[in-house]
Amino acid sequence: MSISERKLDHIRICLNESVEAAVSAGFEDVVLVHRALPEVDAESIDLRTSFMGREVSMPLFIAAMTGGHPEAEKINRNLAIAAQELNIPLGVGSQRAGIEKRELVRSFTVARKHAPDAFLIANLGAVQFCRGFTPKEAQRAVEMIEADAIALHLNPLQEAVQREGDTQFAGVLERISEVCEALDVPVIVKETGSGICAEDALRLQEAGVSAIDVGGAGGTSFAVVESYRGTEQLAKNFLSWGIPTVVSLVECARSVAIPVFATGGVRSGVDIAKALALGARACGVALPLLRQAVKGAEGVMEVLRTYERELRIAMFLSGSRDVEELSRSKAVVLGRCREWLSARGMLG
Ligand SMILES: Cc1cc2nc3c(=O)[nH]c(=O)nc-3n(C[C@H](O)[C@H](O)[C@H](O)COP(=O)(O)O)c2cc1C
Repeated sequence: MSISERKLDHIRICLNESVEAAVSAGFEDVVLVHRALPEVDAESIDLRTSFMGREVSMPLFIAAMTGGHPEAEKINRNLAIAAQELNIPLGVGSQRAGIEKRELVRSFTVARKHAPDAFLIANLGAVQFCRGFTPKEAQRAVEMIEADAIALHLNPLQEAVQREGDTQFAGVLERISEVCEALDVPVIVKETGSGICAEDALRLQEAGVSAIDVGGAGGTSFAVVESYRGTEQLAKNFLSWGIPTVVSLVECARSVAIPVFATGGVRSGVDIAKALALGARACGVALPLLRQAVKGAEGVMEVLRTYERELRIAMFLSGSRDVEELSRSKAVVLGRCREWLSARGMLG
């Protein structure tokens, strides 16, 4: 099966099946302390923030999803219209297909065409750099969409349970380091649903990575997606594999000085507020936007505006005037996430 057909398969499964992980992202274990005396006017709350040096309208971005198939062009177009209109960053999906097949480039360039001013994030799989890609391919991905940053994704679980999977990850950190060295745009490293632990976050920071997106467990699960693609039993035994987003976020934010983003099961503005109080600089959302983007840009904007309203209310109720104050407010972590973090020595 070609990469292009596989990409379409992923979208079809994500649209028609229930593809979220068997584990929770953990936001139900996080509580923001309610302030009966907020001492702030809800309407004056400022959601603007800096995203890798660029001012954006809120601490939320559209996480990498697609490209590499003519169908994906429409999806990236609608996501781009929303990103441009709302001034939030947008990540495109893996550009490997565009690098290997000229005719697929349009499904990515459509993002820059419709979001001329948005912060755009290029995307390639980190494992490709163990299989022949060099920093030149990373540079081509950046140039393809005039990107402001590039995300290298880590997806060892997906590769391991996929029939066509690439599991040669030996040397991957060194390859990531070479890309960081060669490129003049920042490099983000992201997981895609299994999370990043404190130890790996530190190694990524040392390798020269500019930001980490934890891509934790609890949202879209590629073990679930692959279980619909013929590796059923193998993938099914990994449905609850991975570090929940909340746990991974705390582990990473406590361990590194570079910005940490939280993606994976972020499903409301309340989740975003909790993630920011736990140390995230911004949150990424994928699946709920994909389901709208196949229909049009309006629905994408509606979901994003709902998150914006909920975030504003959560900030009001926790007495935070702006994102900076929210990030200083204390979140209480309870339940399974607390147990997990305690077992890892990450509390206190
Ligand atoms: C259809 C689909 C395709 C995706 N493709 C990519 C990809 O090419 N590169 C990548 O880094 N992440 C990819 N992701 C992962 C997302 O960026 C995100 O990390 C993950 O879906 C968790 O967020 P969610 O729970 O809000 O969906 C994809 C997600 C979906 C739903």
